[in-house]
Amino acid sequence: MSEFKTVRGMRDLLPEEARIMKYIEAKARRTAELYGFKEIITPIVESYELLSAKAGEEVRSRMFVFKDLGDRMVALRPEFTASVARLVATALRTEPRPFRLFSVGSIYRYDEPQKGRYREFWQSNFELMGSNRPEADAEIILLTDSLMKSVGLKYAMKIGHVGVLRGIFNQEKLDDKTQNAVMQLMDKQLYDDALRMLKDAGISKEGLEALRRLVELKGNNVFDVVAKMKETVAGHEKAAEATENLNEILKLISQSGSSIDIMVNAGFARGLEYYTGVIFEVHVPDLNIALGGGGRYDRLIELFGGDPTPAVGVAHGLDRIMLAMQEQKALRGIGQEKTVAVIPVQEELRAEALKIAQQLRSQGIRVEMEVMGRKMGKALEDADRRKIDWAVIVGERELKERAVVLKKLQKREQATVKIEGLAEAIEA
Ligand code: HAM
Repeated sequence: MSEFKTVRGMRDLLPEEARIMKYIEAKARRTAELYGFKEIITPIVESYELLSAKAGEEVRSRMFVFKDLGDRMVALRPEFTASVARLVATALRTEPRPFRLFSVGSIYRYDEPQKGRYREFWQSNFELMGSNRPEADAEIILLTDSLMKSVGLKYAMKIGHVGVLRGIFNQEKLDDKTQNAVMQLMDKQLYDDALRMLKDAGISKEGLEALRRLVELKGNNVFDVVAKMKETVAGHEKAAEATENLNEILKLISQSGSSIDIMVNAGFARGLEYYTGVIFEVHVPDLNIALGGGGRYDRLIELFGGDPTPAVGVAHGLDRIMLAMQEQKALRGIGQEKTVAVIPVQEELRAEALKIAQQLRSQGIRVEMEVMGRKMGKALEDADRRKIDWAVIVGERELKERAVVLKKLQKREQATVKIEGLAEAIEA
């Protein structure tokens, strides 16, 4: 039989990586708790119709789609947002608002594999549903900041507003199809192509000029950029309102006292089609891909048959956070607990060794029982190599005194310790 490999774009997380992934997941879960988000668990497989409804061409064309044995068109989730919106449109429909819902798990997209881009990856996802107020947008951005800081990352937040762009498009009476196609081009920063498409679609001269100026407007002086945006869209009422909304959100964030490195980018668009308001992404200098992204989407739940429910949310790419932590050397010493190796001197003492191992575990100590039947020297060498902290050597002579030898491996110290007080000796 040929040698089995993982399927292209899929990968195994070995213990060291799995540990970091779980550490980041725990930080995300803690962030959810601190911001009042409740965890929900939704299926990995959903109907194709649900997942494709407003995903946008970019995501839609990259879904893992198949027919199940019951002839249903289904797909692996390419994000959490559609599933959460489905829940709010159905089972949670009559529950009081707002909803603060958190999820974490694997996501599937048939992206071209490269550094930081996989076909199976992990997201932590936060949705705040039921409020159209700028403080809700601010909360989502602030919790993203909290998560990034809690894993020790230096990053910058890129912010834009879909309402500004769509405001112009709508006033110019562009149909949805054209609007979405233009947004996809802008998402890829193909601004010339986007402007050409707008021209071909019959946008007015003023409209085109406004967009031409918008796509050039960006910078860290966020209130200056927003002021210039306001001037630029003055002739487009909805776009002007959207710019004021962006201004309010930025003001709230700045007045909340948090220090976030923000860059406003008026021509910024995202691949997903459901956004209606503020949008943002997390970027780090060492990687040219986003660590997280989100925004406001006020009409999705309605589209799924629910009551009109404004919403804002974000998803963080845990794999990319892990990569950025490696690049920024933010990984040192995370979540490593002390471990003890329990080694019987001879085979007849296996049961005694197991008993001692069980006793230590019941006292909350991590134990690796020697299961290879190796001689003491070999077992110790191996424990040393794997940076185990302590070895408990179970020998006949000490057992007669209800004791064992406790060895501190890295320091090469050892002492005979009563079994009764073993856990305390290890913790000390
Ligand atoms: P998204 O920008 O498509 O947004 O994905 C969020 C994050 O998932 C990205 O910033 C990135 O870190 C990670 N990600 C995406 N594709 C890959 C990949 N191929 N490999 C590794 N990581 C990847 C959403 O998914 C929206 N549902 C976010 C949202 C929630 N908007 C409102 N609520």
